[in-house]
Amino acid sequence: MCGIVGYIGSKDCSEVLVSALRKLEYRGYDSAGIAVFEDGKISVKKAQGRLDDLEKKMEYEGRPLGHAGIGHTRWATHGVPSETNSHPHRGGEKVTLVHNGIIENYKELKEMLIESGREFVSETDTEVAAQLLDSNYDGDPVKAIAKTLSQVEGSFALGILFSDRAGEIYAVRRESPLIVGVAEGESFIASDVPAIIKYTKNYYLLEHDEIAKLTEEGVTFCDLQGNPIEKELKVADWNEDAAEKGGYDHFMIKEIHEQPTAVKTTITPRIVEGMPNLEECNITIDALKDINQIYIVACGTAMHAGMVGKYVIEKLAKVPVIVDIASEFRYREPLIHKGDLVIIISQSGETADSLAAMRLAKSMGAQTLGIVNAKGSSIAREADMLIYTHAGPEIAVASTKAYMVQIAVMYLLSFELAFAKGFITDGECCRLTDTLQGIPALIEDTIDKTNDLCHDIAEKLTEAESLLYIGRGLDYALSMEGSLKLKEISYIHSEAYAAGELKHGTISLITEGMPVIAVATQNSLYDKTVSNIKEVRARGAMVVLVCDEKAKVGADVADYIIRVPQTDEVLMPMTAAVPLQLLAYYTSVLRGNDVDKPRNLAKSVTVE
Ligand code: G6P
Repeated sequence: MCGIVGYIGSKDCSEVLVSALRKLEYRGYDSAGIAVFEDGKISVKKAQGRLDDLEKKMEYEGRPLGHAGIGHTRWATHGVPSETNSHPHRGGEKVTLVHNGIIENYKELKEMLIESGREFVSETDTEVAAQLLDSNYDGDPVKAIAKTLSQVEGSFALGILFSDRAGEIYAVRRESPLIVGVAEGESFIASDVPAIIKYTKNYYLLEHDEIAKLTEEGVTFCDLQGNPIEKELKVADWNEDAAEKGGYDHFMIKEIHEQPTAVKTTITPRIVEGMPNLEECNITIDALKDINQIYIVACGTAMHAGMVGKYVIEKLAKVPVIVDIASEFRYREPLIHKGDLVIIISQSGETADSLAAMRLAKSMGAQTLGIVNAKGSSIAREADMLIYTHAGPEIAVASTKAYMVQIAVMYLLSFELAFAKGFITDGECCRLTDTLQGIPALIEDTIDKTNDLCHDIAEKLTEAESLLYIGRGLDYALSMEGSLKLKEISYIHSEAYAAGELKHGTISLITEGMPVIAVATQNSLYDKTVSNIKEVRARGAMVVLVCDEKAKVGADVADYIIRVPQTDEVLMPMTAAVPLQLLAYYTSVLRGNDVDKPRNLAKSVTVE
């Protein structure tokens, strides 16, 4: 997803912009560019590819020297990745800007601008915004921005330079995120906090339709009518170190190792006297008693965390749960009733489909609960109730620790709901909560015990053309995540299947040597899954079995067995997820892929 930065101050602006953009690389991008005021004129440098390509280009052509400018990493939506389509875009003589989001009515606007005699060089919706703003500008930035915003539809964050205002940067947003950082004698704009943390921890969250004006003297805010706005200064609780690799080869493996701490930090404040307590999140036992239908709506990995939640909530609290992919939910006319609980799970809190689904649910009278990692993000701010996961910044595109804390929260919620509904006693609730508190140590243990084996098994997977992940019940929910993890970073096709459903078609895919990862951690379903494993093994599959350390596994069941520490059956996904993450990680490493930044993917997808 596109990343925006901006800087004004005494430092070398080009250097600051590129270094800040590097911290947004996790969002995914295919081109990059900067625009800097150099001797009063705006100098633009752009390149297709990585930031390294931009730097090489600047080494060759010369780097703009100046103290105010904007920068951008582009994740192509309108128009192919190319230098021409990359940002910053000039709107004519007066305006240069960077943009994250989508101008939905750009076609109509473009036609109107062409009729008025303007010519376009790129295929982007951003250039339309730039040209429109340029045509509206007559020396008053706020008026021009306000007029432009009244004409454009969609979601966007903009960083803007006006050619005749060399000491100023303007920023505005609607839907897409943007923060404004401040330090002594300098200020910043950015799509996310990690971009500025090296320079300052102090920042403001820009709200919809608020305009920020940055100068070396500081930052001022106003609304679209030009009325000044006082904003609350926030202080980031991340340090720079937290956003670095900390000695590991990749962020993904670092984040796998951070899982025990992330889970501990997420659950500890929500356990009081041995019982789950979500009161600080506005969730009370009384309110939970009245819930009769739950929807869990999310995308990607977060949706898979919702699948685990469904099995656990239905099993323990006996409340029906429908898990929906956000992009489907928002257009399938869901039958939401007043009082239904709609849970939106999102690491970034900015995923466009999840945000839209939440707004739809709200408009239909549902109570919304956000389970979000990024503080102050849109979903966090708009949800009726909010549980922050405390995973810290997750940089690798493939989510690991964010998933782990999302399911940790699903457990806490399920235990409390089951207790509120009277399906478990306080004693049983305490026992489950206590077992959950023991999980961080078990995750650590699992990493230690399975790491090398997963590496060795990954060597056997690197040449595979296709894999199957199979399981039943919670193991099936977990298989979905294991399969996604593998395909997104190894680029090997894989599919998750309910083990009992294989025989209805998919088993025809099994050929000699095809890897099948079978997850069988649920004692009650173990024998049934083993029968399905035998079916695939008889047809030549190479079976990797993930089971608990005490499972009695027959000699002919699997080619490889990954044993994970045993815990309560319902909590097994928290340990069993680890080897699935490690298998995906090592397969990607051994195939020589860009593990943290897989092709075509973005960390935070803020467009539909
Ligand atoms: C993108 C990421 C996935 C993530 C999904 C949902 O597709 O690549 O890893 O699971 O978005 O993101 P969210 O921030 O809403 O959890």
